[in-house]
Amino acid sequence: MKIETNRRLKISILRFDPHVKGDKPRMETYEIEEAPGMTLFIALNDIRQHHDASLKFDFVCRAGICGSCAMIINGKPDLACRTLTKKLPGEITLAPLPVFELIGDLSVFTGNWMRGLNERLEAWIHEEESEFNFNLLEEPMEPELADEIYELDRCIECGCCVAGCGTIQMREEFVGAVGLNKIARYQLDPRDKRSDKDYYDLIGDEDGVFGCMTLLGCEDVCPKNLPLQSKIAYLRRKMLTIGMKDKSGCGC
Ligand code: SF4
Ligand code: F3S
Ligand code: FES
Repeated sequence: MKIETNRRLKISILRFDPHVKGDKPRMETYEIEEAPGMTLFIALNDIRQHHDASLKFDFVCRAGICGSCAMIINGKPDLACRTLTKKLPGEITLAPLPVFELIGDLSVFTGNWMRGLNERLEAWIHEEESEFNFNLLEEPMEPELADEIYELDRCIECGCCVAGCGTIQMREEFVGAVGLNKIARYQLDPRDKRSDKDYYDLIGDEDGVFGCMTLLGCEDVCPKNLPLQSKIAYLRRKMLTIGMKDKSGCGC
């Protein structure tokens, strides 16, 4: 079957393998024929199949669900599997996400960073201790609240918001929009029995919500369109109130 072609694409990729002794970062450009409906996932496979089998990049689901294919596409973090080449100019530049540990070429280890963040923020439901250590009956939840929690649960930990945040480049302990989104999510959940003060201890400082300089890049690049700005603004107001109460010694 003859595949209809549109353009010849020039794809320049930042190549570097930190595990190969003596390897140096360099741009390598590949020319491929664009096919109808081509995504960057297809384009990268074409390059690997016909030009350079050693090219490293990550994909699992190819459907915008696993978050593993995030990379810098023409200067902006995005998911390669959901990016159609026809939406891009004929010259495309690809680079790995910054901040995360580089495995090689376009492949980065976001899992390590995200696991550290989840452990640090204790990103799981803290239920009330029960005599049997498990709850047989869960309290029903209002559908509107369940929807609100689900909206924030759609985060796929792709790392785009981390790569798009200037604050993280300067302060590596900053939890970023992905971390603040997690706290916003658990704080909404009535099954999570942590107090306001517990949340304040997690994000009430410069590495948490007060480190955010409202640079807005996170929401611009989030491929799941999470309402990061409004959640960060809400958390900032809430943490400010808790912090002031704490300093005044008010136990209310
Ligand atoms: Fe990705 Fe958005 Fe989650 Fe950040 S908040 S990790 S950009 S899905
Ligand atoms: Fe970074 Fe988003 Fe705040 S880009 S500084 S987390 S508004
Ligand atoms: Fe899973 Fe792109 S391959 S999000």
